Amino acid sequence: MFGIIAGRSFSLAGMEAAETQVMETPFGAPSDHVTIGRLGGRKVAFLPRHGPEGIPPHRINHRANVYALKKLEVTEVIGVNSVGSLREELPPGRLVIPHDYLSPWGILTFYEHQVVHVTPSLDAALRGLLIRGAQGAGVAFSQEGVYIQTIGPRLETKAEIAMLKNFGHVVGMTMAHEATLCQEAGLAYASICSVDNYCHGIIDTPLTEKEIAHKARENAGAVHKVLLRVMEEMA
Ligand code: HPA
Repeated sequence: MFGIIAGRSFSLAGMEAAETQVMETPFGAPSDHVTIGRLGGRKVAFLPRHGPEGIPPHRINHRANVYALKKLEVTEVIGVNSVGSLREELPPGRLVIPHDYLSPWGILTFYEHQVVHVTPSLDAALRGLLIRGAQGAGVAFSQEGVYIQTIGPRLETKAEIAMLKNFGHVVGMTMAHEATLCQEAGLAYASICSVDNYCHGIIDTPLTEKEIAHKARENAGAVHKVLLRVMEEMA
């Protein structure tokens, strides 16, 4: 079964034939109950990472979220992640399917007490499915990009962005944790990122949280179209 972990502006809670599962894990409770239903004829498990009340990014229990999906026998996880753009040629409204990521501020692990080193990568087959889905859906997207994870909840300073733009394409606060934990748990993971703003200082217009939320809601329709295509292809 596919799992989908998404941000605040994207929901599949209204899927046909949906049922909810309240999960517990050795790491505590996940962000919310998991909704299991059908999308494009395919069974999917949906988990909103910010929960019903809006858990801030630095407090999300990513380990519980990934563990809960694994326990439900999910084998592939698609992250829907909101990002800011580090490049003028990558405007808000674009979707990005990253091919790699970096996180200079640390990444969560399931291996706190064991020497286990996974070699991180985003799942090539799942990325291929997302790329075909985006092509089929006819949305504006980039089929690669490096995702840089910051901690949040604050946005980055202009100086931070001026440095980060030398190393990647988009910035967000969640994907590196999810990708790494999924890999440690033996789950395939890839992400479809919605570019909801230019990062601080990339353009002259001041950056506000309100504008990011507004653009994220606008982009949710394109993400939905892509996921529908992916699930129809897999059904
Ligand atoms: N920075 C970090 N995370 C984000 C941004 C950003 O500009 N936009 C959406 N998520």
